[in-house]
Amino acid sequence: MCGIMGYIGSKEVEPILLDGLSKLEYRGYDSAGIAVVKEGKVKIEKKEGKLKILEERLKAKSLKGNVGIGHTRWATHGSPSDKNSHPHSDCSGKIAVVHNGIIENYLYLREWLQSEGHNFTSETDTEVLPHLVEHYYQGNLQEAVQKVLTKVEGSFAFAVCCEDEPDKLVVARQDSPLVLGLGDGENFVASDIPAILNYTRDTYILDDGQMAVVTADGIEVFDFKGNEVDKKIFRVKWDAAAAEKGGYDHFMIKEIHEQPKAIRETLTGRISENKSSVLFDENVALTKERVSRIDKIAIVACGTAYHAGLVGKYVMEKTLHIPVETDIASEFRYRDPLINKRTLMIVISQSGETADTLAALREAKRKGARVLAITNVVGSSVSREADDVIYTWAGPEIAVASTKAYITQLASLYLVAVYLAEKLGTMDAQVRKNFLQELEQLPEKAELVLQDEERIQKLAKEFVAWDDSFFIGRSLDYAVALEGSLKLKEISYIHAEAYAAGELKHGTLALIVPGIPVMALVTQEDIYEKTVSNIKEVKARDAFVTAIAFEGRKEIEKVVDQVIYLPRTTTLLAPILTVIPLQLLAYYGAVERGEDVDKPRNLAKSVTVE
Ligand code: F6R
Repeated sequence: MCGIMGYIGSKEVEPILLDGLSKLEYRGYDSAGIAVVKEGKVKIEKKEGKLKILEERLKAKSLKGNVGIGHTRWATHGSPSDKNSHPHSDCSGKIAVVHNGIIENYLYLREWLQSEGHNFTSETDTEVLPHLVEHYYQGNLQEAVQKVLTKVEGSFAFAVCCEDEPDKLVVARQDSPLVLGLGDGENFVASDIPAILNYTRDTYILDDGQMAVVTADGIEVFDFKGNEVDKKIFRVKWDAAAAEKGGYDHFMIKEIHEQPKAIRETLTGRISENKSSVLFDENVALTKERVSRIDKIAIVACGTAYHAGLVGKYVMEKTLHIPVETDIASEFRYRDPLINKRTLMIVISQSGETADTLAALREAKRKGARVLAITNVVGSSVSREADDVIYTWAGPEIAVASTKAYITQLASLYLVAVYLAEKLGTMDAQVRKNFLQELEQLPEKAELVLQDEERIQKLAKEFVAWDDSFFIGRSLDYAVALEGSLKLKEISYIHAEAYAAGELKHGTLALIVPGIPVMALVTQEDIYEKTVSNIKEVKARDAFVTAIAFEGRKEIEKVVDQVIYLPRTTTLLAPILTVIPLQLLAYYGAVERGEDVDKPRNLAKSVTVE
């Protein structure tokens, strides 16, 4: 939630801040602002709305200077408005702060600061930060921030500039990401790596409980007590172009098309030459002995990652014969989950920063479970706190609606299933070999599915004419139906209800009216006939039904209005192919409706608040 950008050096700061913020808008975009220190004065411009509104304003009223901080906001405390936008400043206007996260004890701090005579102008939790800095400031910004850190509770990453010390930025991190970019005579601060990639690839990834003093000539990192910390440089391997649109109209469609490549990346180096084993690098230390102690698997995640986890449940129960529970992270930790030393907890998170997922991970560790993380972001909080880590290698995912991250989460879960099955002896070598060979063919098959793009674009027109739609399927198809309906809802704002096909007659069938679009997923061979019966139930009510089925299932054409065929693969692997037409449907539905595809209303890419 919210993106932070900071720069200090010899260049004009405004274009650098705006460029960085444009790469961070996926984190929130209901307002934006910058603060620049120039000739001993802090100047702030901020505006409700997307970054381009701020950019327009700055064209008329540019802020010149070489030091500054910027912010793009996703509102938590206080509605989106000019006054609630960041940067926030103190009473004197000398100090400016941008913040990502939530200061949980802000009400108490606000009342206390008000009783000390401080004037507040916004409804935000953030505003306590500049006033606290002001309160403690005695000529040393670093020391003042250190004192502030003893007062605030919650999750935060923030950056401070101060006109009395115009040659530095002071930043701190606790439970929200912050990256420092190392340049030559210039340095950068950002919530995420893409924001600084146009300038440098050398970074320090700040850990929780660390703060830094950033000047043009260097960066010093400290713990919150002021002890200096020795940081290792993390060199980013992918380049800025990987995070740009590359000729596509939107990041989402670019990322959908990147999926074959992304699956390949996930699999590369992880399947043995003889194809019968899965190999993970040193980030996974699940020995045979550790695996043999597991008597339950708990998969925990949010949103799309949770839907990947549902696929994981079906696949792992089938291949490992161990009970697997998949939970929504925000529910998991508050129900006193039954997990212990014998539980393997798998957390799935693209960003690795989702607050609920992180909290669930911590709860599991507290209860003695071993935690395996599947994440896309190297150095993310989840990756650092888990015992074992599998990176999905999807590359930067910028569109708020997750596509390639989901597909690579699935690919990773298949690898984990085979890896554990080999250690548990629940899948013999030949079965593993067939499965892994099939898995390796999925990138090419995904490319074939993408060739149906134009047809799906036409189909999207059927959906956008309605305000409601239905996605049905059984078993793994149901898990993918949930993901398909989420995609459609979140970017096209069409209400989409995902239903287990066999459950329709227990209530939802009442909503089926003539012409209403229904997407029926029919890839699961063992229950094919059962799903077809359910399709007939909706057809009997005159719904407009599109089926997604494997090639060769010609007979389904007699039952539905149209069919999207997928190249054949084993039923367990079907979700990787089935989801692609659903992603395209959501994308073209949103385009058809003229919605802001990459930045759907009310959402943000990375949800670092509970
Ligand atoms: C939907 C979407 C979200 C995320 C969820 C978890 O398209 O992207 O539902 O899947 O917010 O995010 P991560 O995976 O970063 O933990």
